[in-house]
Amino acid sequence: MSMTVGVFDSGFGGLTVLRAMLPLLPGTRFVYLGDTARLPYGSKSRATIARYAVSSVEFLQQQGADFLVIACNTASALALDEIRAAARVPVLGVVETGAAAAANVSKAKSVLVLGTAATIASHAYAHACSARGLHVVEQACPLLVPLVEEGWTDHHPVTATVVDLYLGQAQSLYAKGSEPDTLLLGCTHYPLLRAEFDRALAGRMTIVDSAGVTAARAAELLAPSPSAAPARCEFFVTDSPQQFQSLGSRFLGQPVENVQHVELPE
Ligand code: DGL
Repeated sequence: MSMTVGVFDSGFGGLTVLRAMLPLLPGTRFVYLGDTARLPYGSKSRATIARYAVSSVEFLQQQGADFLVIACNTASALALDEIRAAARVPVLGVVETGAAAAANVSKAKSVLVLGTAATIASHAYAHACSARGLHVVEQACPLLVPLVEEGWTDHHPVTATVVDLYLGQAQSLYAKGSEPDTLLLGCTHYPLLRAEFDRALAGRMTIVDSAGVTAARAAELLAPSPSAAPARCEFFVTDSPQQFQSLGSRFLGQPVENVQHVELPE
């Protein structure tokens, strides 16, 4: 019997985490839920995010998930305790894995974290990073999610300007000479802006992408048996399957098929 991994995100972004997991977990059945009717989570309150997240993971468990990956940084930052309390299977969130990876990479023990407004306001990354001995500067970047969803990712001048502005704002938060040497991408959408961050940073910081490190951690925990069978994916969304299919392929890096609509209880 193959393992079923449930992957939860507010919408499309979690496909970057799934994309990173697919080659690492062959033979696995992935059930992905994108709560597209209720996105974005990044501008919502803790109570609302927790309520949405709990109903979403309940659904993934009904689909047979043996293990849950909370791909959404906002849900991981604000609702992991509620999710764990509601879950009957192990739960992996992106915040702890991202912070652990940053602590491994940073020589200066200093990290800049970027995320949605809700993620940054929760200070979940700050706590997880401080607990690992890192000095942390946090910067909310609320405009980046809509820009990525608009498809303005490949050196688009507006996106380049916005990235520069946010990095400039972050720079004003640390003292001269104490620039962090590590940038932690604390949002599912930011891996699609990797080229933009590389350009803007020009090698000044090492980039840690919470999607990639979470996938690696999931593979470590689940220790997949080498299997010739490719991973299988089923997708569920709370809004239009067609829209998810067309927008999602950019996040997954391959066509998104098998998408079904689902109604979740409030
Ligand atoms: N998935 C969210 C995150 O990683 C970004 C999109 C949203 O705000 O819903 O924080």
